[in-house]
This record gives sequence, structure tokens and C-alpha cells, in this order.
Amino acid sequence: MRKNWGVLRFFVILILLANHFFCTTAIEENRGIAGKNGMVVSVDEYASQVGIDILKKGGNAVDAAVAVGFTLAVTFPFAGNIGGGGFMIIRFPDTEEAVALDFREMAPGKATHDMYLDEKRNYVKERSLYGHLAVGVPGTVKGFELAMKKYGNLKWEDVIKLAIELAERGFKLNKRRADSFNGLHKRFKRGNKEFFRIFSKSDGSEFKEGDIFIQKDLAMSLRLIAEHGSQAFYKGQIAELIAQDMKKHGGLITKEDLEKYEAFARKPVTGTYRGYQIISMPPPSSGGTALIEMLNILEGFDLGQMERYAPETLHLIAETMKFAFFDRAKYMGDSDFSEVPFKHLASKSHAEDIRRKIDLKKAIPSTKMGKEILTLEKAKETTHYSVIDKEGLAVATTYTLEGGYGSGVVAEGTGILLNNEMGDFNMKPGYTDDKGLIGTKPNLLEPYKRMLSSMTPTLVVKDGKVFLITGSPGGRTIINTVLNVIVNVIDFAMPIQDAIDGPRMNHGWMPDLLRLEKECITEELMESLKAMGHMIKEPSSVRQGDAHSILIDPKTGLYYGAADKRRQGSAIGY
Ligand code: DON
Repeated sequence: MRKNWGVLRFFVILILLANHFFCTTAIEENRGIAGKNGMVVSVDEYASQVGIDILKKGGNAVDAAVAVGFTLAVTFPFAGNIGGGGFMIIRFPDTEEAVALDFREMAPGKATHDMYLDEKRNYVKERSLYGHLAVGVPGTVKGFELAMKKYGNLKWEDVIKLAIELAERGFKLNKRRADSFNGLHKRFKRGNKEFFRIFSKSDGSEFKEGDIFIQKDLAMSLRLIAEHGSQAFYKGQIAELIAQDMKKHGGLITKEDLEKYEAFARKPVTGTYRGYQIISMPPPSSGGTALIEMLNILEGFDLGQMERYAPETLHLIAETMKFAFFDRAKYMGDSDFSEVPFKHLASKSHAEDIRRKIDLKKAIPSTKMGKEILTLEKAKETTHYSVIDKEGLAVATTYTLEGGYGSGVVAEGTGILLNNEMGDFNMKPGYTDDKGLIGTKPNLLEPYKRMLSSMTPTLVVKDGKVFLITGSPGGRTIINTVLNVIVNVIDFAMPIQDAIDGPRMNHGWMPDLLRLEKECITEELMESLKAMGHMIKEPSSVRQGDAHSILIDPKTGLYYGAADKRRQGSAIGY
């Protein structure tokens, strides 16, 4: 018995030491995959390889990013898409200028602000999650075309070619993909026939690792897009098929809606953090603005001197998150419809005001912060990838179908999975509760409006050169994932792979809940945080985000690609 205790104690000490080492020490070797001429980091190895092939063929980072995007629509239907929307931040090394491409979905013309409420004005979540009513007018194809027309080097059709081949000839399913496809029938109570047909084997058996997955209809759609440009999707044959399918199944999207859709090149939001420049996504994303607000707040504290996973550090970051997410709920929506006070939210003086309100020892209850918008009567899928070419042209792309496999709708004959992005609007006008439902005006549903996003593709620049390319999926947690990564790199000097893999935390104002990934979270830490007034359910086994990132070593100029271990992505450099 005694001997057993000795052995047990030895292992406990070993685990504690390993834990301490991982939490507090920058491990030099964990710098990710190195490359000199180009780097692509995405969730999927086919897509990363296609990106690298395009770079090697003389394409630039924009060509590669678009090729990766089309490929993911084939090989990672969970979130890769042409039936969804997203954002792309591009920075040009010669002019040091950056642009933010907005290809977010928009509400169809016939949408109304209470279309997801029942007769008693209760929000019926199902309606905005599954089926034709959940679909926003897709933006990805217009966005990719805009990127290529303005900034690409190669021919449009050459950039799509590899994705077409993968759809036409098929690709090998890994275990994760096979399991994911097999799970769809259970997960999607409602999805259309075409959706279930595509994700079933003709003999009725289950998908296995190594199966070749062929998508003929999708290949045809991609070929039409390659031949006729975005016209095929927004005016031609694909538009016709989508509109027909919508009509047949009670959806709202019409041919006119598709024809009306535009992607925009916007001015990114920018800020500074300890001598670094932050370049990120403006509205209709809340991501860039909230990120800059949080960094401004944290800049007033010497975070680098604190221990990364000490209760005081987590408390400070959590309070920072709460304030920014309260502002997000109060002010943010599509800035083409109502003004978002970006200048104020991202100002150093607003951060200073917030710092004065933060109590370093006690958590402020979220309900106290938001009295003016609260009306208390008593998850999701996206993907981010990062690309840089040998000239230093840097591209951060985050795009989405919203939920995994979107709305569970494939417009008949197109092979194209459609998003369920409509659920990102504020659903119940005037009703904001402590469960996380927001009803403030800026993000209420209106025809042709873009729903507020949290996607935060971000570039960090140091002395005129890109230093970090990052972003993540994860719904509202995205903004906090990006914050975690940035402070890990800048304040805690972690090598990029550690900064990505290290445990993350999230607080989204409402619900008033601090979520921590389970590594590094000890009983003692939980108790300390609870004593400070934080609500923590349990160390979360749900993984937060999937931040495929690139760090550029300012000294050597080498690229370090770090695929996030959470979904086993793929970093390829050369
Ligand atoms: O645009 C947004 O913020 C959400 N539709 C993103 C969804 C998402 O990240 C889900 N992924 N895990």
C-alpha cells in the first residue's frame, strides 16, 4: 500500500511539473512548421497542399487563398463553402496598405424582423437553424471573384481547377470526415433529401476511412463558376436552381436577391497594442472592433509580468472580455444600416474608462453592466486559414456556413451546401437576456442587411512587416480566441505552436459564465476564480476555436506555420 502511494505521488508530481512547465514556459522548439517562400495553414491537408501548389506555380497569396477556399468547399463541407460567406484581410507588402473583403451573407428581400418568432412572439430557434428559411444569400463566390479580379495573379479557372478535380474524381476520407458524415443523419433532424443523398453511400453502408468521396453535382457547379465567373452563381444556371429549390420548399431567396448581392472591399479596422499594429475586420463583423477594444484595455496592465494561468490573469482578461462583449451587444450590427461608433469603441480613452471600472479582485456581475439593454423577465461551424507568399503578401480568411454543414440544405442539382447564417441576426426585437439572446436594434433583421458576425481574421504588424496572421472559428468565442493567441505571443512570449495549442478562455458578457479549456485548470484555480465572483461551470472539455496561424520571425523573415491541434489542421511551407 505504502509503495503504491509512493508511486502515485511520483506520478502526481510529474504531472504537476509537466503542467506547470507547459503553462508557464515558452518552449523554444514549438515554433511550428518553417518555410521561406510560402506557407499555408488550414484545417485540411488537401486544401493546404492546393494552396502550396498554387504558390509554387507562381500564384500569389490571394490566388492561393482563393484556391484553398474553393478546395475546402469540396474537402471540408463541414464549414468550407461556396454556399456561405466570410471575410478576407489582405495586406500588401509594397504599399503597406490592407483591405478587408466582406462577402458576408445578406438577408433576402422578403425577410422580416420577426420571421423566426411564433404567434406568441417566442423565438423558434429551429427555424433559423435548419431548412430553407435559415439560409442567407451566399457571398463566398462573389468575394473570391473580387479578390481575384483586384489582387490575383493567375487565371480564375486555374485557381478553381484543383477543387473541381477533387470534387469530380473524389478524395480519400480520413476517419474524422467519415465519422462526421455518418453522424449527420442523427444530428440533422431536418435537412433536405438532396443533403442526405449526398452524405449517404448508395449501398446504404456507413462511410469508412479511406473511402473515395465523389461530388459530381458540386464539380458541375464549380465548372460553371470557373467558366462563367460569379455570374453562373448569381444570375445563371446555379441561381436558377437555388431560386427554384427555395420556391419549392418555402425558402425566401429569389433570383433578384442573388442578382443584387455584392461583395465589398472595405477599410479594415486598425489599432495598436504595445507597439504592434492590429489590422482586422470591420462591421458587419464585430470581431475587429471588439478585439481592438480588449487589447486597448489590456495595454494598461503589465500582462507580461503576470503568470499566464494565474487566477488574477484570467480574472483580468475575463473582465476585459465582458466589457467588450457588452459593447458588442449594445452597439454592433451592419454599419451600412446603422452607425457603429467604432472610433469611440476602439479609442484608448474608452479603454481607460473601462480600466477604471475593473476591480482587480472581484468580478462584476454581467447583469449589473447591462441594465439598459437587459429585458429579464425572470455553437456552430466555421473555418479559418492563413496564407503568405514569398513577397510577404499576407491573407487571413475566415468563412462559414454558420452551423456545421449549414442549414442541411443542398439546392437540388447544384451539390452546394447552403448556410444557416440568418441565425446570426438578433431575433427577438428588444429582448436581451442572461442566456445570451440579444435583441438590440443594430443587428435586427432587415431585408438585404448583413447579419452581425464575430469572425475576426487578423493581421498583426510590427515595424511595417506582417508578424502574425491569425483567426478562428467558434461563433462569439472567435474574438476571444484571437485575443488569447495575440496575448500569448506578444505578452507571454510563447512560440507560435504553444500560443495556438495553449488552453483558452472565454467570457461573452452573457451568459455570465467564464469558460476555460480543461488543461491547466486545477481545482485550486477554479476555487480562486469562484471566490472572485466568477461563475464557472466546469473546466470545459469543449475545444475553443481552431486558429490556424502563421508567425513571421522578424529577425530571419522565416515563416512558421502552426496548425491548431484541436482539429488536427495542416501547415505546409516551402
Ligand atoms: O459569423 C459568425 O460569427 C458565426 N456565424 C460564425 C460561426 C462559427 O464560428 C461556428 N464555428 N464554430
